[in-house]
Amino acid sequence: MRYAGGKKLNGKEIIRILNEDIKSNSYQAYIEPFMGALGITRKVEHKIKLCSDLHRGLAGLYNDIAHGEFVIPHFVTEEEYGQIRWGEYNSLHVLVGFTCSWGGTWWGGYVRTPKDPIEAKHAGSLSVSLINTKRDVDMCFDSGHVSFLEMNYKEIAILDNCIIYCDPPYKGTKPYHCDKQFDHDAFWDWVRLQSQSNRVYVSEYQAPDDFESVWSKDTAVHMKREGKIRSVEHLFKIKE
Ligand SMILES: C[S@@+](CC[C@H](N)C(=O)[O-])C[C@H]1O[C@@H](n2cnc3c(N)ncnc32)[C@H](O)[C@@H]1O
Repeated sequence: MRYAGGKKLNGKEIIRILNEDIKSNSYQAYIEPFMGALGITRKVEHKIKLCSDLHRGLAGLYNDIAHGEFVIPHFVTEEEYGQIRWGEYNSLHVLVGFTCSWGGTWWGGYVRTPKDPIEAKHAGSLSVSLINTKRDVDMCFDSGHVSFLEMNYKEIAILDNCIIYCDPPYKGTKPYHCDKQFDHDAFWDWVRLQSQSNRVYVSEYQAPDDFESVWSKDTAVHMKREGKIRSVEHLFKIKE
C-alpha cells in the first residue's frame, strides 16, 4: 500500500533490530501504536502482535482483508477515484485514499499514468500497490496472531514486559490527517512512562536528551516545492 511516511522501503534495518531483540528476550507481546501501512509490522516475528493507528477505518480495512470481507480492486481510474472520494466512508475509501494518491498522502490527488515509459512503469505500480495490500496483511500473520485496532496511542494501557515500536509523525513534518495537533512533548512523556516496564523503540529525526540513537540512516525526503531535502533518521531508545 502506498503510504506517506511508510517504512516499506527503508525499514529493513529496523526490522532486523526488533527481531534480534525479540529473539534474545521473552517479551509478552509486540505493540505498534502507529502501524500505518504495516511497513514494519508485516515482518516482525512475534506470536502476539497488537497494532493500532488513529486513522479512521485503517484497522477496519486490515480486518476486512484478513477476514476475506473485502476484495481489492486491480485498478482505479481517475474518474472512480473522484467517485470513491465523495462516496461512502468504507474500506474501499480508505484503501484508495492512500494507495491511489500522490505520495500516499490521504486524498492527495490521483496518481496518473505518465506518458514517459519509464515513469509509466512506476505508475503501473498502482495496481501492484493495491494488490500488495493483501499480501502485506497476510504477511503480518506469518509469525502468529495479530490484532488491528483503531485507537489513539494515548489510550494504550501501561504495559509490562512488551516490546513497543513507535513510528509517530515526525516533528517538523506535515501532520497526518487523523491528528493535526500531534503533541510531541506529550508523546515523549508517554514513551518515558512505557519505558519503565517495556523496551520502547522510536523512529524520529530528533529526540530529547534522555534518549539515545541505536541506529541511524541518511535519508532523502521528497518535498513538493522545495526539492529534495536530506535528513538523518534515527531509532531511539531511552538511555539506561
Ligand atoms: C510515519 S506513519 C507510520 C508508518 C508505518 N510505520 C508504515 O510503515 O507504514 C505515522 C502514523 O501515525 C498515525 N497517527 C498520527 N497520530 C496518531 C495518534 N495520536 N495515535 C495513533 N496514531 C497516530 C498516522 O495515521 C500514521 O499512520
